[in-house]
Amino acid sequence: MISLIVAMTRKGLIGKDNDLPWNYPEDLQYFKKTTLNKTVAMGEKTFLSIYNRNQKPLPKRKNVVFTFDKDFKCEGVEVSHDLHKYLQEYKGDDLFIIGGREIYREALPYCKYLYITFIEKEYEGNVYFPKVNFDNYKIINEEKLGELTFTVFERR
Ligand SMILES: NC(=O)c1ccc[n+]([C@@H]2O[C@H](COP(=O)([O-])OP(=O)(O)OC[C@H]3O[C@@H](n4cnc5c(N)ncnc54)[C@H](OP(=O)(O)O)[C@@H]3O)[C@@H](O)[C@H]2O)c1
Repeated sequence: MISLIVAMTRKGLIGKDNDLPWNYPEDLQYFKKTTLNKTVAMGEKTFLSIYNRNQKPLPKRKNVVFTFDKDFKCEGVEVSHDLHKYLQEYKGDDLFIIGGREIYREALPYCKYLYITFIEKEYEGNVYFPKVNFDNYKIINEEKLGELTFTVFERR
């Protein structure tokens, strides 16, 4: 099963200068709880922003990085140079697409579930989630916590 997980404002903002525009520990905990022991797949830019913060890939998860760079190497990370081939042929356990914008846009058609944390406040930034027609999805779970709304959508 392929899913996507993202935090965004209601205007679709997801990033600022290759980082997150906000700091919500509750959302990081939700992200961890949801993806732990699963496969997480990300673009090279998102990987670098995680790696620079933690000095390592995401622990206790199989990390897959998409890049066109044939020389890209990192210990503990699987590399794919072809996102579409990887997702078309994927037969493993639960896989979460974890960003960023470019990878969300390309992977969206493959995702059955969208785990979206809506941030009920506006922030400054320059990276937006691709346009989604939410008519094609139904909400199967929704929980509110302070400024956050944890929502799970299932493709109809
Ligand atoms: N709010 C959230 O939940 C959230 C989550 C994740 C990221 N973000 C934010 O999103 C921003 C980064 O997004 P981004 O769009 O700039 O970068 P990105 O999606 O993380 O990475 C883009 C890179 O992925 C590789 N790539 C793209 N298509 C590919 C394909 N078909 N096959 C193989 N590799 C492919 C390319 O790497 P090469 O250039 O190396 O070839 C490309 O430059 C940051 O601001 C980050 O903080 C937010």
